Amino acid sequence: MSGLSLCVLLGGLAVFGADDKPLSRIGFGSCLRQDKPQPIWTPLLATRPELFLFLGDNIYADTTDIDVMREKYKQQSEKDGFKKLKALCPLLATWDDHDYGGNDAGASYPRKKESQQAFLDFFDVAADSPRRKQEGVYHAQVFGPPGKRVQVIMLDTRYHLSELKKGPRSGTYVPREDADASILGRDQWAWLATQFKVPAEVRLIGSSVQMVAEDHSFEKWANLPLERERFLRLVRDTRAGGVIVLSGDRHLAELSMLDGPMGYPLYDVTSSGMNQGNKRFRRIEPNKHRLAIQDVGDNFGLIRIDWTKSDPLVSLEIHDVDGDVVIRHKVPLSRLQPGTTNGDGRDLSAEARKHLGKTWTVEFTVANVGVNKTKSMFYLNSERDFRSDLNFPVVLNVKALGKEFSALGDPRKTYLGKKVKVTGTVSLFNGNPQIVIEKLSQIQADE
Ligand SMILES: [Fe+2]
Repeated sequence: MSGLSLCVLLGGLAVFGADDKPLSRIGFGSCLRQDKPQPIWTPLLATRPELFLFLGDNIYADTTDIDVMREKYKQQSEKDGFKKLKALCPLLATWDDHDYGGNDAGASYPRKKESQQAFLDFFDVAADSPRRKQEGVYHAQVFGPPGKRVQVIMLDTRYHLSELKKGPRSGTYVPREDADASILGRDQWAWLATQFKVPAEVRLIGSSVQMVAEDHSFEKWANLPLERERFLRLVRDTRAGGVIVLSGDRHLAELSMLDGPMGYPLYDVTSSGMNQGNKRFRRIEPNKHRLAIQDVGDNFGLIRIDWTKSDPLVSLEIHDVDGDVVIRHKVPLSRLQPGTTNGDGRDLSAEARKHLGKTWTVEFTVANVGVNKTKSMFYLNSERDFRSDLNFPVVLNVKALGKEFSALGDPRKTYLGKKVKVTGTVSLFNGNPQIVIEKLSQIQADE
């Protein structure tokens, strides 16, 4: 990329020149065996990525012998497709377990310092780079001019990873909920907090393992739920917009979305593997956050950004080995901004579901007041976006409330932005929980 020459170093963070062209095609992928055919390069190179992100398992080293590891990196570096990609665009990378050193390996892997140097050598990181001295391969970089900046934050989810709690079957895990357990480690958390304050319109978070999916029993952020919550809280508290997670590791591609705790929807685009995708159909695992899946075959990911629109359009894509787009989801950048949901981390809809058919008292701030077309129903919504999975509506039935409603005046003036305490029976409408008010005394509102 021509802009590379304009790059200046600012406190270890590379910032590209203001006249730099905005990125509109960012490729990514994971799980690439150096000793197996790699037909994925043909469709991948055809998309002409302007930047490519390796999300881990970039080789299968699986060794504590660093000479063996370096030999495997060498094998990968000689692949024609890899050489072409390297000539085409900048590469940024993080690692996962197999290139770090061993299946599901974490902080206790004994050769992590040497492995880090081998990784940085493979990706041509300068000998005097601060990344040579820190513990872990995490780093960040901003591309593009103000107003059209893409920040790439590559996390290291291996170097500081605490022991996971084993599940009933080999290779499976159950959540470990003690505060001592970490994924990123203290220094990387502190660094990440500073990164979220760096100005950028889109922030791509490279995480080797999935952040959003929480129902399967393999490696994922949800195995250490306090760390996952910490990430969501950090985004919410720093009010960093445009965050999208890119992940790998799973031998499948899928798009997951978590709506709420972060203050806006968190998309997690998983691409795996570049030549290690599932070879045959297996039962599709549960994932309540899933929007789409490609469960068989090799794949790579592509983020396209159309900066020409007044509300830039971000297209989250998975491409297969035939060059077909098998998953595509378009999100306006305005949707990825703080305040799209309340961001208080509460899933009132899920809480209400536990009280179906029973009397329940709930407190929330009315983020939105909606009305149906005939103005016969008003809805006090807990979320600004009433379609959000998290939204819980309190329903005012104009006819049933009769004179009480007439005396109330406009519910928007009475309740919008107010903290309310509502008691009533939780019922279902179109599968979603709600409380229908029979008397206004069921609602207490702050003045
Ligand atoms: Fe992995």
